[in-house]
Amino acid sequence: MLAKILWLGLAYLAGSFPFGLFIAQAARGIDPRTAGSGNIGATNVARLCGTKLGVLTLACDALKGFVPVAVAWKLGGGWYASLTALACVGGHMFPVFLHYKGGKGVATAIGAVLALCPWAAVVSGLSCAALIAASGFVSVGSLFFAASLPFTAAWFGPWSIVPFTTAIAALIVWKHKDNIRRLLAREEKPWRKKAG
Ligand code: G3P
Repeated sequence: MLAKILWLGLAYLAGSFPFGLFIAQAARGIDPRTAGSGNIGATNVARLCGTKLGVLTLACDALKGFVPVAVAWKLGGGWYASLTALACVGGHMFPVFLHYKGGKGVATAIGAVLALCPWAAVVSGLSCAALIAASGFVSVGSLFFAASLPFTAAWFGPWSIVPFTTAIAALIVWKHKDNIRRLLAREEKPWRKKAG
């Protein structure tokens, strides 16, 4: 029991590590919190520092979701792994290292769901990529990823993962409230253009 509680704490700390901020500052001396969309995620790092560093951020943020959840499956099965996924994604969104002001959680959620239920991650992830390609807006793909996640989790996974993946999806949508407002006002920046 103690090991499981400790692992949950470590998962939150892993999720809290702001790879996007670290990569953008180390490679380009840019603080993504003060430029572009102000987000520390892969999209804003790609916008400000180029696609390669954006992809690197995406991979690191996904990995910090994948590894803790994959270990949690072995420690405690579906319910515990799902709670661990929420801890990782919650860490990314509300990081202790950045005064609880973090990112939107999509890359970390993709990594966590990949460990929870690979088919749900693949189907929701590919739908997200298709929506980004079709719309030109990462936020549109991200919102579709979140909207589809409870359904793909229910379809492909054990029921134990559905409540927590639904909570993660709801948090992702809530974190995109400014993007939703900008999309409705037609002010959202396409991912290819540099944000002002
Ligand atoms: O996952 C984040 C993405 O949907 C939006 O990022 O930087 O355009 O707010 P950004």
